[in-house]
Amino acid sequence: MCGIIGVLGNHEVAPLLVEALKRLEYRGYDSAGIATVNNGKLDRRRAVGKLVNLSDLLVHEPLAGKSGIGHTRWATHGAPTVKNAHPHRAGGVAVVHNGIIENFRELREDLAATGYVQESETDTETVALLIRREMDQGARPVQAARAVLKRLQGAFALCFLFDGEDDLMIAARKGSPLAIGWGDGEMYVGSDAIALAPMTDRITYLEEGDWAVVTRKGAEIFDAEDRRANRPETRVAVNATRIEKAGYKHFMAKEIAEQPVVIADALKHYTGGGATPALRLPEGLSFAGIDRVVLVACGTASYACHVAKYWFEQIAGLPAEIDIASEFRYREPVLSDRMMAVFVSQSGETADTLAALRHVKEKVAKVVAVVNVPTSSIAREADLALPILAGIEVGVASTKAFTCQLTVLALMALQAAAERGVLTPAQVAERLEELRALPGLMNAALSLSTPISRIAKDLAKAQDILFLGRGPMFPLALEGALKLKEISYIHAEGYASGELKHGPIALIDAAVPVIVLAPKDALFDKTVSNMQEVMARNGKVLLLSDAEGVETAGPGAWKTLTLPEVAALWAPILYAVPAQLLAYHTAIAKGTDVDQPRNLAKSVTVE
Ligand code: G6P
Repeated sequence: MCGIIGVLGNHEVAPLLVEALKRLEYRGYDSAGIATVNNGKLDRRRAVGKLVNLSDLLVHEPLAGKSGIGHTRWATHGAPTVKNAHPHRAGGVAVVHNGIIENFRELREDLAATGYVQESETDTETVALLIRREMDQGARPVQAARAVLKRLQGAFALCFLFDGEDDLMIAARKGSPLAIGWGDGEMYVGSDAIALAPMTDRITYLEEGDWAVVTRKGAEIFDAEDRRANRPETRVAVNATRIEKAGYKHFMAKEIAEQPVVIADALKHYTGGGATPALRLPEGLSFAGIDRVVLVACGTASYACHVAKYWFEQIAGLPAEIDIASEFRYREPVLSDRMMAVFVSQSGETADTLAALRHVKEKVAKVVAVVNVPTSSIAREADLALPILAGIEVGVASTKAFTCQLTVLALMALQAAAERGVLTPAQVAERLEELRALPGLMNAALSLSTPISRIAKDLAKAQDILFLGRGPMFPLALEGALKLKEISYIHAEGYASGELKHGPIALIDAAVPVIVLAPKDALFDKTVSNMQEVMARNGKVLLLSDAEGVETAGPGAWKTLTLPEVAALWAPILYAVPAQLLAYHTAIAKGTDVDQPRNLAKSVTVE
């Protein structure tokens, strides 16, 4: 995945490109680059690492021109070096690319056989060279692009800029999303509406196989068979304001702190703001005739699904299965027209999740998207999209999106229970009241930040950390471990508490902290036994529980953190806060890059 921007403007374009790349940096930050055409001359600047390095370079070596393309990279083919950074150039063409050209080896050999040899290790330069070869043989840019696009296999989005052509960009989409933006005498191309938001809200999404010839007058769009295609222009409301840390040191800290507010917003949206909450999920979300729910996602979102499986089954008696998207469609899942498929994604662009959605479309009763970005591909391709209303999430490690996903999934489970007659309206109202208490409880959990920061100083010395949980807290143990490893680079694993004795207990010694996420629920005593097993082997237990739990567990734990009491069902939403804070403060203690951890990207648009 990577972020793409293109601008045919009326002013100097480099600052606009850099500003747009800032909004796309969530797609990768291994390198960044821009190319412009100035007085008919194509030129480029590229820098390894964060966008700030490109900005610095541009101060010393500015790039003039009113037409340009830009790119932020998450390396797939070739290490993050300047040579492998985009835009790639061959002769009179520069190209930026998101995705993977699967047949690039074969194409590269073909090029080499005719004397066109690559400088970089990327699949992108192959595309630039193919265009160059066409143009060397006399093709005009549009002809060259049309011919080359036909030869490319894989999932990709591309944008080309040409030497001597100050009013031309060619954009193409196959598999990876790409949008055309309409301005006033200016035109834009971008990976998503978020990148284009400061410049325009008039967007045309290219469809599968489309390619477009863009000039300042507009865009001519063609389908995969080169027929003129009429794609609708839509108004997309995306907050164009600069994304700020609002006084916090990191976006992650800000986003953790925002959770009480965004959860309250989501609850208000879906249950009304009045004295008595009631379910107000969109009408299309009906569980009538549904005998199974399948929940599919990647990363943190998949752990939200994992929690929701417990909820659908415990609350609504509705069988639920979960899968990570990259496995789902290849395991030949048994689908039926009585099945609801739910795809959960913060970005709504994760390639595996999108591919899984396409795999089930038309084969199940309903395809539901639970997304944070309502303009995303997953939202647009589902039968029904439920926005989680978390607001823009910048930190690569997902926090507020996770708890908002959980909130919306909890409401879906309650809706299923209500429709299936498993819960009476009064029982549903009771559960909703419990959910409504969460923002207040989360505020109290946030006040644990200081004690957590002290504990984190010790955790930062560990090489391995285990997280344990039972029931719906088991997936939270998985999420706690993921959060920690993502940003502190400490190896961490989440286990079901009862599973500890079946292997992981072999790892226990005084150097391996064990973090137990255990509100005082029906299974608490069993978890206490598991804790004892750890302590009997010199293990260091950090217990997160409520006051009653801490008291019941008795002495022996290395440290305890006392959380407010919460309805057992919804405990994963509350306990997510200290789990996130533990990861955050441990990363701070280790001095890692919290918001943009190494090797990761916020949105993964390659399989
Ligand atoms: C990336 C991010 C994770 C995220 C996952 C799924 O790996 O680093 O934080 O959970 O993608 O992303 P999605 O946008 O589909 O929720």
